Amino acid sequence: MDRMLQIEGLTKQFGSFTAVDNISFEVDRGEVLGFLGPNGAGKTTAMRMVTGFLTPTAGTAYVGGHDVTLEPQEVKRRIGYLPEGAPLYEDMTPSELLGFVSDVRGISGGAKRDAIASAASRINIEHVMHQAIGTLSKGYKRRVGIAQAILHDPEILILDEPTDGLDPNQKHEVRKLINEMAKDKVIVISTHLLDEVDTVCSRAIVIAHGKIVADGTPVDLEAQSELHNAVTFRLAEAESEKSKSAVEAIESVDRVVEGESADGLVTYTAYPKDSQIVIDDVSAALKDAGVSVQEIQAERGRLDEVFRRITTAA
Ligand SMILES: Nc1ncnc2c1ncn2[C@@H]1O[C@H](COP(=O)(O)OP(=O)(O)O)[C@@H](O)[C@H]1O
Ligand SMILES: [Mg+2]
Repeated sequence: MDRMLQIEGLTKQFGSFTAVDNISFEVDRGEVLGFLGPNGAGKTTAMRMVTGFLTPTAGTAYVGGHDVTLEPQEVKRRIGYLPEGAPLYEDMTPSELLGFVSDVRGISGGAKRDAIASAASRINIEHVMHQAIGTLSKGYKRRVGIAQAILHDPEILILDEPTDGLDPNQKHEVRKLINEMAKDKVIVISTHLLDEVDTVCSRAIVIAHGKIVADGTPVDLEAQSELHNAVTFRLAEAESEKSKSAVEAIESVDRVVEGESADGLVTYTAYPKDSQIVIDDVSAALKDAGVSVQEIQAERGRLDEVFRRITTAA
């Protein structure tokens, strides 16, 4: 069976500058792929090529087996696209906009009415359908943008920074919507927000300078963190020397680093050798040393640290 979305050697040069540099990956149904990278990494450029709005310098994308460079119309029928910033006609109402988009997509008559009603109910904009888009909140404008993207019930949704510029509640709403739609679609969202990866993505591809630098589940990415399986513990400053040397003496501990101290308490982080699990050894060593620990926890790893390291490496 053809992959839903297959990207092969996709490349874009603007003059002598390479914005997207030979990227390849595949996405299957049920996946929400986070396309992650700092500003300028090439996310939007890649998405514009995949959706048929920008011609690749080399490589291509296959959507349901159709090559976007050869059959852009077939691809556009199967893809819903929310462009970055999603400019909308402020004077139109959502109802008029969705009617216009239906006409452009060649959906008419009863099918048009059904498509608009179904998108409006899925995205929950029914009560603002006859209000000028310019008067809607940012969160509702973004919903209208998503409604136009799903109007033709595409199998694949490409959303470029869908939560950018929204307040925390609006972000939450849009993420909930994405999770709901993920059941029967392939969804690719670009983001520079790390918490988005944890809350909506089943997989993340990190790009930097137009190249893929990581590809895995959020848990895989966290496991690349220096802090993965490290143990943080907090205790009285008076016992700090004794505790530090007790933990440093553990065979599987690589080093112990002092963190912040406040209110007579000091925090240490014990980094394991080869990401081994050391929390039991650390708490046993502290107990043997007769230290009473205020707080102890194992770290999952920090996405922001991994992100910074892999996107700034030369
Ligand atoms: N039409 C264009 N002409 C020249 N350079 C461009 C053009 N579009 C994007 N770029 C450059 O390509 C790089 C990637 O941009 P973009 O894909 O928008 O990144 P992102 O979406 O990850 O922030 C940036 O350095 C940007 O300035
Ligand atoms: Mg962008």
